Amino acid sequence: MSLAPPLRLGVNIDHVATIRNARGGKHPDPVRAALIAIEAGADGITAHLREDRRHIRDDDMARLKSDISRPLNFEMAATPEMSRIALMTRPNAVCLVPERRQEVTTEGGLDVVGQHNELAPFISRLNDAGIRVSLFIAADPRQIEWAAKLRAPVIEIHTGGWCDAIADGNAAKAETEWKRIVHGAALAKSAGLEVHAGHGLDYATAETIASLPQIVELNIGHYLVGEAIETGLADATRRMRAAMDRGRAKAASAA
Ligand code: PXP
Repeated sequence: MSLAPPLRLGVNIDHVATIRNARGGKHPDPVRAALIAIEAGADGITAHLREDRRHIRDDDMARLKSDISRPLNFEMAATPEMSRIALMTRPNAVCLVPERRQEVTTEGGLDVVGQHNELAPFISRLNDAGIRVSLFIAADPRQIEWAAKLRAPVIEIHTGGWCDAIADGNAAKAETEWKRIVHGAALAKSAGLEVHAGHGLDYATAETIASLPQIVELNIGHYLVGEAIETGLADATRRMRAAMDRGRAKAASAA
């Protein structure tokens, strides 16, 4: 029996920046969150610099690159602006994603079949700069075929449809989506691509998808940040309670 390769965890810290930006200050800091995640076992950090800078900002990306000890995966749309920033930042990897201003999150995969002419120069420029390119696509055979033709070394399979179907209790759709992921991962691996997956994963779906030996990296963000809030709020509340009690006690002893 051959052993499956290790499965890396890329922690996406975008939504730490979402919370920071709600107030416009410096707290919470996505770079500090990245350092905490690495300390706890993350194999890499993922951040998406969107055109509208709704969460991660240019200086976050620069600080991540200089401060973290693990690979940085720079998610971005294939635009001249982002290409320029990525070539300046020199992350270990770039994940090309579709981006629409109105969307709440990255809703679908890249259309590599329909946009191969536009994507080709971005991929070769990044390849030439020694940055590992990953294409975020649906587990669709034609998309996978074109990703290989375009010489992207990596694909990331969009798991959002599968995760949503499970969350909605739609067992039939979840089964169909799961089969697509299983077949897509096998096809991509046999086409010589490195296979990653991500979007919408939680503890249960991460555990399930970890059974696929072709997948070597999962990128997970929203659920982890939500869990960090829910599991970390008790400790933060205790520390706040203690700070207030100390303040009162000091004032009482000074009176
Ligand atoms: N991978 C890619 C390419 C993404 O665009 C995202 C969302 O930014 C993720 C993974 C992480 O998805 P989630 O935040 O739902 O875990």
